[in-house]
Amino acid sequence: MEALLQQIEKYKQEITEVEATTAEALETFRIQWLGTKGTLKNVMGEMKNVPNEHKRAFGQVLNEFKLFVEAKFESLQQATGGADNAAEKTFDWSLPSSFVPVGTRHPLTIVRNQIVSIFKTLGFAIAEGPEMEDDWHNFGAMNLPEDHPARDMQDTFYINQNPAWLLRTHTSSVQARVMENQKPPIRVICPGRVYRNETISARAHCFFHQIEGLYIDENVSFADLKQTLYFFVQEMFGKGVQVRFRPSYFPFTEPSAEMDISCLICDSKGCNVCKHTGWVEILGSGMVHPKVLENFGIDSTKYTGFAFGMGVERICQLKYQVNDLRLYSQNDVRFLKQFTGAM
Ligand code: PHE
Repeated sequence: MEALLQQIEKYKQEITEVEATTAEALETFRIQWLGTKGTLKNVMGEMKNVPNEHKRAFGQVLNEFKLFVEAKFESLQQATGGADNAAEKTFDWSLPSSFVPVGTRHPLTIVRNQIVSIFKTLGFAIAEGPEMEDDWHNFGAMNLPEDHPARDMQDTFYINQNPAWLLRTHTSSVQARVMENQKPPIRVICPGRVYRNETISARAHCFFHQIEGLYIDENVSFADLKQTLYFFVQEMFGKGVQVRFRPSYFPFTEPSAEMDISCLICDSKGCNVCKHTGWVEILGSGMVHPKVLENFGIDSTKYTGFAFGMGVERICQLKYQVNDLRLYSQNDVRFLKQFTGAM
């Protein structure tokens, strides 16, 4: 009993001398004195060895010791909290934070967004459709006859032959779905991924991205088509860019034209991209074939329309000088991080 009381006095002495200034030291104190295996618990455990007649007096000593330890802990807590506050006061919150790497938008997303927003200013709505299509929406409705070479297995990924299910080869299939479901006036652009069975190289890929447009109303003329696309090119590439239209053929438009712009890579001096002609083709276009309109019950004597389709990869190549199609799908961060900050 006497020894125990002396021991408690020693503990008190020891505790008085503790000076904890860090959160760590505070925690060490707590574990040593107040923890579940700490000294206080041990001393309390001695109670059962104390003879009954002393229990009351000893209980008081123990209680007092307990309060003593707790009070010390509290005062230490305040002291270290104060130290933290001091650190907070001297911390310079205006310092730049450590570098956090951020992701980037994919260049094709950036360019698609740019194209879409230009046509939005002209009042075009966005239409989307399935990548897996039936023969009718991809080919038949668009006036591609049964024996058209584009239907060939060489070009088209067929999922099923009969009935034909395939991966769409152009987003004209979305135009078909719009004409099926809406009445003129129609003014939509159709962005999306398309598939063609080509050997992958710097210049060809088995999938790429298109944006097609469709405008149907009364009195829509070829002049409207030219002016719309001319406006697009100027917004996309700047005022100095030259354009030219060349006669072409698409089953779903008549007349048809392809549009070239002056080569931005070499400033029309001649390079690999423009094949030393100074011009690069960027899109196909034309007046919607009357048969296509009639396929969807649109009166071709009352309504006319124009359509166009462009490859996003090609626009991106001219805008950012990307010279290999494979870069778009390799996910190489050295390529992708060059587009940081672009929207
Ligand atoms: N669908 C054509 C293609 O994939 C592009 C195009 C669309 C041409 C509309 C004319 C009119 O090449």
